[in-house]
Amino acid sequence: MKAAITATARYLPERILTNADLEKMVETSDEWIRSRTGIETRHIVAEGQATSDMGVEVVNRILEKSGTKPEEIDLLIMSTMTPDMCAPSTAALIQAKAGLKNAWGFDLSAACSAFIFGLETGTGFIESGKYKKIIVIGGDAMSSILDFTDRNTCVLFGDGAGGVLLEPTREGGILDSILHLDGNGGDALKIPASGSLNPASHDTIEKRMHYVWQDGKTVFKFAIKRMADVSEEILTRNNISGSDIKLFIPHQANKRIIDATAKRCGLAPEKVLININRYGNTTAGTIPIGLDEAVEQGRLKKGDYLLLASFGAGFTWGSMLIKWGEPV
Ligand code: UT7
Repeated sequence: MKAAITATARYLPERILTNADLEKMVETSDEWIRSRTGIETRHIVAEGQATSDMGVEVVNRILEKSGTKPEEIDLLIMSTMTPDMCAPSTAALIQAKAGLKNAWGFDLSAACSAFIFGLETGTGFIESGKYKKIIVIGGDAMSSILDFTDRNTCVLFGDGAGGVLLEPTREGGILDSILHLDGNGGDALKIPASGSLNPASHDTIEKRMHYVWQDGKTVFKFAIKRMADVSEEILTRNNISGSDIKLFIPHQANKRIIDATAKRCGLAPEKVLININRYGNTTAGTIPIGLDEAVEQGRLKKGDYLLLASFGAGFTWGSMLIKWGEPV
């Protein structure tokens, strides 16, 4: 028994923030952002709109597309680093708003790799035989933790969410995964005052410690190597070459990191899903948003091999190999 992705959905907030808008906010340029990252626009939540609101939209769209009733969902895994609040979990908020009355659920924290960590977790629950319908969402309202006076970070991220329905299958499905965690990289990308170490105080606010801080160069160096290594490794151990892969959906943090990984795996540009230009880095949202776009565009057919890969804060990174099932 394996787990198959049987439906996908995404939600991007309406408001768009362009590079030209950012030029008015910090010392930056459209040229710098495009050439260093590949980003042109990103979506930003409306005032009062939180991660759970995006999650509910994703759940409702998954239920509608798959003809599933809310009460049929057994488990909801919400992968995010921008929960609405520490407690209750964002999964609980979504569960109530979407009426998933028979589902239990939890939030999963692994920054940019949270969606594939969630997919691995959901896969295990399906393979156990105990659960039949699991929704895994990846989504972040990054604008809620961005310092819009810090050009090193505010140009990089955007808001958005995507998700999948996982169900048992005897054909194809999620075939393999390689996941990693190296906490020694923790200082390179963090939000210093976002938990029990530095509870909110006037001091933490004055020092702007509630915002994302990143040593971009260090993260870049690790990301470009680790994401390529782990993508190559999963292909090699499954005796699959780049030419066998129909589509590669990488985490969208930097177009240069994506291009380097694709090159190492022998993947032609047309096999690589790129949407960083439109959405920026939506953290846990990038892969499921890309997946839903790929399905919508008919880029995946039954039997196609799909490769996913990510790298993010922690450090966390990994790859997954999927054989696509019946078209959604
Ligand atoms: O998804 C989570 C994982 N995150 C990542 O994978 C991100 C990894 N890192 C990166 O993508 C890149 O390191 C960045 C896009 C963040 C930065 O690109 P870079 O080519 O590594 O630039 P840099 O940090 O070496 O900065 C080059 C210059 C610096 O100026 P000096 O010191 O050379 O005078 C920066 O101060 O660019 C400057 N700079 C900017 N200039 C205009 C930094 N940010 C900006 C900006 N606009 N927004």
